[in-house]
Amino acid sequence: MMHDLVGLRIGLAVTGSHCTFEEIIPLARDLTRRGAALLPIASDEAIGTDTRFGPAGHWRDELETIAGEAIVHTMVDAEPIGPGRMLDAVLIAPCTGNTMAKLACGITDTPVTMAAKAHLRNRRPVILGISTNDALGLNAPNLGFLLAAQEVFFLPFRQDDPQGKPTSCVAEWELAGDAVCAALRGEQLQPMLLGPGE
Ligand SMILES: Cc1cc2nc3c(=O)[nH]c(=O)nc-3n(C[C@H](O)[C@H](O)[C@H](O)COP(=O)(O)O)c2cc1C
Repeated sequence: MMHDLVGLRIGLAVTGSHCTFEEIIPLARDLTRRGAALLPIASDEAIGTDTRFGPAGHWRDELETIAGEAIVHTMVDAEPIGPGRMLDAVLIAPCTGNTMAKLACGITDTPVTMAAKAHLRNRRPVILGISTNDALGLNAPNLGFLLAAQEVFFLPFRQDDPQGKPTSCVAEWELAGDAVCAALRGEQLQPMLLGPGE
């Protein structure tokens, strides 16, 4: 077991890609096992909506248990992340198309976008683990904008169903720890773009 994240404070910001929550729990466990201290953050959609993928309370409890911290789920609680220099990195995983679009446009109206804005003001990295059906469609301009943005990095991602959902992309969750380490060195983990079967 690597302990390469010891001493790092990582904001794990969860947005409303409900179908991926099941994969975010092992991601969170992996980060803590590698030594990171996690601060869970969630959008209203992620923390407040029961879906066919499970009741919101279940995911909330899981995340808070792994992190040992209450979820930051208000603007007021997310704002101090900036002035307090509370985090080394913010990992938004899963990052919806909605949140990606807002980040690209400088819109700050959820606890997650507030956390990212607050953190970016310290010129510290934000890493996006995208999960959205429109990454190569209507959201492609926002994806492109963020690819070129300073201090914004990506979990390597792939088309998850090129035939069935031709504009959909999903991050490779298992690379979260490595992507965060790379981002803290100012580098994008490569290859960033994975093939469908990789
Ligand atoms: C069951 C369910 C699954 C969803 N899955 C996704 C998804 O995988 N990716 C995505 O971008 N949006 C998905 N959405 C839509 C987002 O939840 C919606 O755009 C929401 O406004 C996102 O808000 P947030 O980005 O603040 O969390 C899903 C919605 C529902 C109800």
